[in-house]
Amino acid sequence: MRVDVIGGGPAGLYFAILIKSSHPGTAVNVVERNRADDTFGFGIVLSDETLANLRRADETSYREIAANFAYWDDIYTHYKDRVLKSSGHGFSGIRRLTLLQILQRRAADLGVRVRYQSEDPGVAAHQDADLIVGADGINSRVRETLAAHFKPTTETRSNRFVWLGAKTTLPGFTYSFRENEHGIWNLHAYMYTQGECTLVVETTDEAFKASGLGVEDEAAAAAYVAQLFGEELNGAPVLSNRSFWRQFPVVRCATWHHDNVVLLGDAAHTAHWSIGSGTKLALEDAIALHGAVTRHPRDPRAALEAYEGERRDEADRITHSANTSLVFFENVRRFWHMEPIQFNFALMSRSKQVTYENLRKRDATVIEDVDRWWARQVAEGQRLRLPADFVAPPPMFSPFGLRGMTVMNRVVVSPMCQYCAEDGTPTDWHFVHYGSRAVGGAGLMFTEMTCVAPDARISPGCTGMYKPEHLAAWQRIVQFVHVHSDCRIGLQIGHSGRKGSTQLGWEEMDQPLAKGNWPILAPSPLPYHPGVSQVPRKMTREDMDRVRDQHVAAARMGIECGFDMLELHMAHGYLLASFLSPITNRRRDEYGGSLENRLRFPLEVFDACRRVWPAEKPMSVRISATDWIPGGNTGEEGIEIAHAFKALDCDLIDVSTGQTDPASRPVYGRMYQATFAEQIRNEVGIATMAVGAITTADQVNTLIASGRADLCALARPHLADPYFTLHAAAAYQALGYALQGVAWPKQYWSGRDQLYTLERRAREEAEQKLGQVKPPKPDVAVAQKAA
Ligand SMILES: Cc1cc2nc3c(=O)[nH]c(=O)nc-3n(C[C@H](O)[C@H](O)[C@H](O)COP(=O)(O)OP(=O)(O)OC[C@H]3O[C@@H](n4cnc5c(N)ncnc54)[C@H](O)[C@@H]3O)c2cc1C
Ligand SMILES: Cc1cc2nc3c(=O)[nH]c(=O)nc-3n(C[C@H](O)[C@H](O)[C@H](O)COP(=O)(O)O)c2cc1C
Repeated sequence: MRVDVIGGGPAGLYFAILIKSSHPGTAVNVVERNRADDTFGFGIVLSDETLANLRRADETSYREIAANFAYWDDIYTHYKDRVLKSSGHGFSGIRRLTLLQILQRRAADLGVRVRYQSEDPGVAAHQDADLIVGADGINSRVRETLAAHFKPTTETRSNRFVWLGAKTTLPGFTYSFRENEHGIWNLHAYMYTQGECTLVVETTDEAFKASGLGVEDEAAAAAYVAQLFGEELNGAPVLSNRSFWRQFPVVRCATWHHDNVVLLGDAAHTAHWSIGSGTKLALEDAIALHGAVTRHPRDPRAALEAYEGERRDEADRITHSANTSLVFFENVRRFWHMEPIQFNFALMSRSKQVTYENLRKRDATVIEDVDRWWARQVAEGQRLRLPADFVAPPPMFSPFGLRGMTVMNRVVVSPMCQYCAEDGTPTDWHFVHYGSRAVGGAGLMFTEMTCVAPDARISPGCTGMYKPEHLAAWQRIVQFVHVHSDCRIGLQIGHSGRKGSTQLGWEEMDQPLAKGNWPILAPSPLPYHPGVSQVPRKMTREDMDRVRDQHVAAARMGIECGFDMLELHMAHGYLLASFLSPITNRRRDEYGGSLENRLRFPLEVFDACRRVWPAEKPMSVRISATDWIPGGNTGEEGIEIAHAFKALDCDLIDVSTGQTDPASRPVYGRMYQATFAEQIRNEVGIATMAVGAITTADQVNTLIASGRADLCALARPHLADPYFTLHAAAAYQALGYALQGVAWPKQYWSGRDQLYTLERRAREEAEQKLGQVKPPKPDVAVAQKAA
């Protein structure tokens, strides 16, 4: 067998080593355009987890790598005259040149043929190889030559960054954020060997331009950074090495393999350097490819298929985290109003990999500080004086006030259609459904989208608020909630628009009824599923008057029922949402075209409801902050929409996304819509509720404490577990927290006590086990000796 590797960076060399080591009879050739001792950049970081993988893959190179580590555990964040420290992070730094030289030596020892200073002539020149590995980095020619197959995309991000170095000793990984007359500058610095460190400095393109620095003026970059971060770098001179102010390219490929050619490392995908994973991905790609080739020794094509099948999810997970992380650094200004403890927590949790509980494991004192700081904020807001021995609860269990309404904790039961109302009237099902979720401990619960007229319903099973029977049934539910729980209950009202007259949720969603369809309305006559859905009638001004008045009438009935809050549904492609989105609103009158025009009717409806809704009760709007469709609304429009509703005294934006049109392509993931709630909260200065794939108490605490949202709505988790909040409270109580903000019904107290006991025992057992099985650590002794 013959393997040709194009590119002698970490990915190419490591794969060559692994394959030659396990298959000595294979001819392995590497072609590298640089000299063996050429390198760009300074140091790279590897986590404990990656080191453990390297050890399993090739003990020989691992031992040499481990002997050259600078190992650190602490992160220091310099922010507005404060320095915050957190521990337990476990990272190792190594000079990039040293890593390459170790790999080069190991490759040579094994008999890999590496040709340095050789420009690869192109994939076609490797016809005789059984396997061709494109490990030729970020500007991969292999990828571009076979672009028709790999289908690469490159998105150039806005921030400017530069890699630099300095000869100084840092106490740990160092972040520093400094503002000058040009803007905010972020420093990321870490040691890769005793007395030497890598710096990456970045800023917005606007700040970079304002500074007058030249993209390729390395001396000016070094001088500017030395002056700005002199204190953090102990006055050490700043060193450059091909240090240009770049903009990060996010490279993605639809596939990484074609025929017997495979892309590895940066050639296949890039991960923003702020999570320090470029080299990790490159090395772990090589390990995974080697595993697949070993399992399919005679069939490289099958090996490549298997490789991508196994590796894709993990690589996507890491690149997704990196993309989330880079967005934080592009938007530091958004967090600049925060106090140091919260800013630091938002920084640590930026990629959603590190959460509240995860940080507690690394360094419990950080979470104690966050809890205490958070509780003080809440107490100050309510003019409460905390006793000296006060144990602050997790942020999830802190109260939150909107106008005259106080919710006892930050968990919300998100609106969820039950599709089983009778002619719009809630039934016993609704009574039990809402009743059990209210006693389950959530601070606030919303009704499902309750429709303002019979033809405003999504399906024949939707609840309504337009007949006396509706009022009586809702009144009974609200009364139960108020008498038997601390939960507040909000009414969500809406009109289905072009998504109306469709089947029940568990039938064919968004498809028209088999019979008995009613005529539907929309801003423009565009069917949801062309050729399948009904074509809605374009609304006239008279229709608008009627629909507005129907909302107002429903709001009035809501007051009579005793609801604590009112939400207008303007998301997910329903009537008011379809005015907001340019995808569904193609009008040429004053209600279509510009965002200002598209907002006109939804604002009118909101304003009319606000006028009748009691001043002491809050109102919110649920929006789709992005359509996830090219040409549709994006996060930027989401911000403008939030500004417009804030100006009309809206109290909270319930931030959802998408479902505007079948063309919507959301990027799913944990808490995937929270970033839009964060943007609106911190840029518009209005309370937000995050929703979407928030499934754990840990995530709720993370989003609340980091200032990304004020409330967290959970929908599906509450279908699986109406007692989500009570269960979370029991787990925290077992950790030693004394919780307020969560009340078990007295009828269930004995169940509560048993659950607490079980939780406590489970925790004690887990702690005992953890004490017995220590996580693997890198060979720190070897590293320290070398240092
Ligand atoms: C300039 C630069 C500096 C960096 N500095 C740091 C840093 O200090 N710390 C850090 O953590 N990460 C750094 N990174 C990121 C990190 O090193 C990469 O994510 C990681 O190196 C990816 O490994 P790779 O093997 O996939 O690609 P690379 O390391 O880019 O290796 C690709 C190799 O292919 C060679 N090559 C490309 N085309 C050809 C061709 N046609 N013929 C022959 N050879 C070719 C290149 O010379 C290169 O050696 C840096 C990246 C770059 C581009
Ligand atoms: C069965 C079901 C019904 C829903 N009905 C509504 C609704 O009536 N109004 C609304 O705004 N969102 C509705 N949603 C969306 C949820 O409120 C929520 O935004 C979405 O499910 C994402 O949250 P999750 O990941 O916690 O489930 C519904 C979701 C589900 C699963």
